[in-house]
Amino acid sequence: MKFFIDTANLDQIREAQNLGVLDGVTTNPSLMAKEGITGRKNILQHYIDICDIVDGDVSAEVIAVDFEGMVNEGEELAALHSQIVVKLPMIKEGIKAAKYFSDKGIRTNVTLVFSAGQALLAAKAGATYVSPFIGRLDDISTDGLGLIAEIRQIYDNYGYETQILAASVRHTMHVIDCAKIGADVMTGPLSSIEGLLKHPLTDIGLAKFLEDYKKGN
Ligand code: E4P
Repeated sequence: MKFFIDTANLDQIREAQNLGVLDGVTTNPSLMAKEGITGRKNILQHYIDICDIVDGDVSAEVIAVDFEGMVNEGEELAALHSQIVVKLPMIKEGIKAAKYFSDKGIRTNVTLVFSAGQALLAAKAGATYVSPFIGRLDDISTDGLGLIAEIRQIYDNYGYETQILAASVRHTMHVIDCAKIGADVMTGPLSSIEGLLKHPLTDIGLAKFLEDYKKGN
């Protein structure tokens, strides 16, 4: 499973990249705003800065909600850097744009997906990634991981190549459960990745090894 980090914070992206297990980055307008990145010029530069840190795919979201606007913005984003993936909202115009970009060989990530039907449409439009938001579903007492399993089954039934990018991951158990189900990618905060490192028996065992070494040296 690929690990993407879900942030526009350059320090956190660097930290995840330095760990050696990072495969990409996802951003959205809220994450950019959280870092204080505003204005078209600054936003575009920030995407380039992120691409310069990581080796993998970087999702950059369009703001337009009409087909023509999405195409214009998406082409501008894709031209910024070879690692950019154009992120499109799961609306009618977004699906049309995903098909347009797919035909042109430009990679896309269809975002704000909350149902299996939406994921089926994204695959039919040739999206590179589909982003079901599991945390936001869990927030409203709906089974986010269940949606990942449904999409996995549908994509496997027909051999769709669209990659399931489990988004809105909130914690380490989401990461493990997504891996068990067979999501192709997960995107989450740095804490959800670093949480995988932790086990008290590892810490206790290491402390004992070091203590025993010191006794003999
Ligand atoms: C990533 O592509 C999504 O925009 C992100 O995972 C949403 O996460 P949130 O529900 O924590 O805002």
